[in-house]
Amino acid sequence: MMSDNDPVRRALCPGSFDPVTNGHLDIIGRCASLYDEVVVAVFVNQSKSSLFTVDERHEMLTDVTAKWPNVTIDTFEGLVVDYCRQHEIPVIVKGLRAVSDFDYELQMAQMNRGLAGVDTLFMPTNPEYSFLASSLVKEIAKWGGDVSSLVPPNVLVRLTERTGSTT
Ligand code: PNS
Repeated sequence: MMSDNDPVRRALCPGSFDPVTNGHLDIIGRCASLYDEVVVAVFVNQSKSSLFTVDERHEMLTDVTAKWPNVTIDTFEGLVVDYCRQHEIPVIVKGLRAVSDFDYELQMAQMNRGLAGVDTLFMPTNPEYSFLASSLVKEIAKWGGDVSSLVPPNVLVRLTERTGSTT
């Protein structure tokens, strides 16, 4: 039972979100019902080529998370643990699609815990989205495949504009 003196329970959902998919939204929405405040942070990765700018990814996320008042969007370049420290966020929430995600996610979770005492909680994705990845969405959209069931409508519009695809 929470009282007025209890601290705000805050969680971070970090990622590239290039672009945000229905799989990400499933995790963000469930996280929003478990925590008082959820920060979704777009992490800049200079070594990864992206389809959308960080600002575009931020805009798309802002649109699609507007229905959850306790979700805010931010961008950051640096370590996840530094972001957590600066914003007093004790926990990272990550979606796990399949066992294949686990090795790398476990490694990062243990590293982040060792670096700064920040814990990671893994949330199994909705099986409906277990195959879904932003990289696949971009490839399919680029070749004119139908990704309308995989991304929210505003992302579909931007993908269509960016890739020149007509579907
Ligand atoms: O959506 P992605 O590309 O799977 O997200 C990966 C992300 C951004 C969560 C990961 O690359 C990350 O944590 N980047 C920030 C840099 C960092 O903290 N690296 C050390 C991890 S132990």
